Amino acid sequence: HQQKQQPLIEAHQAATQLYHHILMNTKLGEVARKYLAERQVSADMIEQFNLGFAPGDQVLQSFFAERKTDYQTLRKTGLFIEDQDGNLKDRFANRLMFPIKNANGAVVGFSGRLLQISDSLPKYLNSPETELFNKRRVLYNYDVARKAARKSQRLLLLEGFMDVISAMQAGIDFGVASMGTSLTEEQIYDLKRVTSNVDICYDGDVPGQKAINRAVSLLEQTTQFNIGVIQIPGGMDPDEYRRKYGAAGLQKIVKTGREPVIKFRLRYLRSQFNLEQETEKIEYAKQATKLIATLDSSVERGVYLKDLATDLDFDQASLQEQCEQDRKRQRTEPRQFNHVVEVSEPLQREQ
Ligand code: CTP
Ligand code: MN
Ligand code: MN
Ligand code: MN
Ligand code: MN
Repeated sequence: HQQKQQPLIEAHQAATQLYHHILMNTKLGEVARKYLAERQVSADMIEQFNLGFAPGDQVLQSFFAERKTDYQTLRKTGLFIEDQDGNLKDRFANRLMFPIKNANGAVVGFSGRLLQISDSLPKYLNSPETELFNKRRVLYNYDVARKAARKSQRLLLLEGFMDVISAMQAGIDFGVASMGTSLTEEQIYDLKRVTSNVDICYDGDVPGQKAINRAVSLLEQTTQFNIGVIQIPGGMDPDEYRRKYGAAGLQKIVKTGREPVIKFRLRYLRSQFNLEQETEKIEYAKQATKLIATLDSSVERGVYLKDLATDLDFDQASLQEQCEQDRKRQRTEPRQFNHVVEVSEPLQREQ
């Protein structure tokens, strides 16, 4: 298996080096160097993440032709688009290149970002599914973050590649991101192998809130996690936040801005209702007490019920009674996880 993948791994390694070389040392790469400078990505981060640039003129195809890499290997990399006659053309053109590594640090695919957003082309383009690359399974920066999490005992789940890089630049080395898709069960297993403490720090915009809600539900359904939510204010994403408030600003919010998942869920639920209307207010109150009823601590239930009563100007005793009823009902239908995750299975040890 691993033997068979070796040529593909080597091709990805070579492509990574070529794209990086073009970015760092050539005239063609100048536009991308400027772009990264404008986005305040440090030279250290460019090196650490081995960022590169794919210009628009079949560089990869010529490069591998010169090295006489065999045709079948090239096809299987997914780095080319095949025309009707079987000719290979570079898949990535005019894009800033992010090499994507597996848990052992081998490059298995790429994502490429347009330097200028266009209507006709996707902002980010990923490698297609290949023998090496399954986007449901990879987490960007997982190889580094899983080691860092031995110290932090915590993983940070971010939305985008640039958020991971921005966090790293601010000294936060336990951040990972999925590949532009929503979080998958496969990725959750890999989180669980490292730690049960996962903090979600997605974009502060509306799609980000929706994605947090979905991720929380999936994490809770899959297995036991200690989940936190870090809400970036002003609709910004973590990278924008760092650029506005500096590394110290991002560090502070990641260090102290963690809220328990119940707080996020209540706020998200609240945003779904028009509280000007009495019927909606009541419906929100019912659903909110149901959420609060899932808390095991009566102190905590008391705190959130009190907040709810004040917020809605409802009678607290009634909410409390409703909550007790919800609890009884929930006790007769105990919580079940979809899957049993085998946490004892270790990841491949690094050398
Ligand atoms: N994404 C994608 N295709 C798109 C847009 C986004 O695959 N057309 C994925 C990328 O993985 C991206 C993530 O979704 O990192 C989050 O999207 P978004 O917030 O729009 O992008 P940013 O990560 O903020 O990217 P940038 O800061 O470079 O604009
Ligand atoms: Mn270099
Ligand atoms: Mn986003
Ligand atoms: Mn961004
Ligand atoms: Mn974003």
